[in-house]
Amino acid sequence: MQKLLNWVDERLPVIDAWNKHVGKYYAPKNFNFWYFFGSLAMLVLVNQLVTGIWLTMSYNPSGEGAFASVEYIMRDVEWGWLLRYLHSTGASAFFVVVYLHMFRGLMYGSYQKPRELIWIFGMLIYLVLMAEAFMGYLLPWGQMSYWGAQVIVNLFGAIPVIGEDLSLWIRGDYLISGITLNRFFALHVVALPIVLLALVVLHILALHEVGSNNPDGIDIKKNKDENGIPKDGIPFHPYYSVHDLLGVAVFFFIFFIVVFFFPEMGGLFLEKPNFEPANNLKTPAHIAPVWYFTPFYAMLRAVTVDLFGLDAKFWGVVVMGAAIAILFVLPWLDRSPVRSIRYKGWLSKIALAIFVISFVVLGYLGIVPATEGRTAVAQVLTALYFAYFILMPFYTRMEKTKPVPERVTG
Ligand code: HEM
Repeated sequence: MQKLLNWVDERLPVIDAWNKHVGKYYAPKNFNFWYFFGSLAMLVLVNQLVTGIWLTMSYNPSGEGAFASVEYIMRDVEWGWLLRYLHSTGASAFFVVVYLHMFRGLMYGSYQKPRELIWIFGMLIYLVLMAEAFMGYLLPWGQMSYWGAQVIVNLFGAIPVIGEDLSLWIRGDYLISGITLNRFFALHVVALPIVLLALVVLHILALHEVGSNNPDGIDIKKNKDENGIPKDGIPFHPYYSVHDLLGVAVFFFIFFIVVFFFPEMGGLFLEKPNFEPANNLKTPAHIAPVWYFTPFYAMLRAVTVDLFGLDAKFWGVVVMGAAIAILFVLPWLDRSPVRSIRYKGWLSKIALAIFVISFVVLGYLGIVPATEGRTAVAQVLTALYFAYFILMPFYTRMEKTKPVPERVTG
């Protein structure tokens, strides 16, 4: 074996790569609960790829056959129901894990210098993930697949001048049809997964170049021993490889409870109208996207005024786009001299709390039908969401921060 390894290593530096990224990758020794979600995101990604490939073997990507082929997978294909529930539950799990992973970044200032690129690759992953989930949701060709896609693609129609042509180009037809289904299938199973994988590789490479942040936000590379090894660092393998297995075990425990007992999650993971085949003559009474999109959907609906001769729908799209775009520039909005929320002042703590509450409540408002009162609440929460970012350069500079310790704590 050793000889074989040497033979390969002389031709491809596998030992170097292993040491750089695993065996001698020194990670801060104070990782906590919040540091499980990066490796869990990779686990869910693998689950989606593997179950997705097997679903493709029995799925029929056509307007005539799609819905029936999903029924066939659920009833006739051996273990087909499990493959499908692993994949549909995995989609929601992906967003749960990624949202918690992003929240960790916000808490510990992991996006700050020198980790801006890690954050940007993360945001690109998030964008591609949303596109991937949106296109995947059309594939079962149920009522919500159809009408959800109809609503979202029509949003592009609100863009002045090019809007109509753009939505026609996306659909490939004058209405959502088998042609749309076909191209979404191609993008969902081939194009976007490749992009996603490439971005995850870049995300990790960028992380390993500068090193991981930690709950104290301390630069462990500033404190090295005589061998040049960070005093507060431990090798990723075996310490975190084994540690992450605990996260995997707990994650699987919860994940499989959902897969086996609550795969529809009361209509949150698989919406009720999606058990009816797509029908372009019958609009469901209430169209709502899947839960992970609903904060942005609530922002879209919160915009109700026409401005500068452009209708509210267009401005809704702008607000929704801005809500995501602003996350990209976060590294340049935070002017705090410290990274972690542990050492930031009260203003940052309150701002983060308000931001999280706004995002979660907007998520709820995006699920339920809009009323006048709810729209008013959504408007206030949308303003608070943006305030977190827009006011950040001010409150992070104004507030008094606590002194950061020399070495990591606990
Ligand atoms: C498929 C999705 C993703 C995967 C597989 C992934 C994977 C990882 C892994 C394995 C780590 C190192 C372990 C850890 O710190 O937890 C990491 C770190 C990080 N990720 Fe992600 N990630 C994903 C999405 C995102 C997104 C959407 C963002 C934010 C927009 C993001 C931002 C970060 C940041 C800032 C770090 C450095 C954290 C630190 O050192 O404190 N990631 N990611």
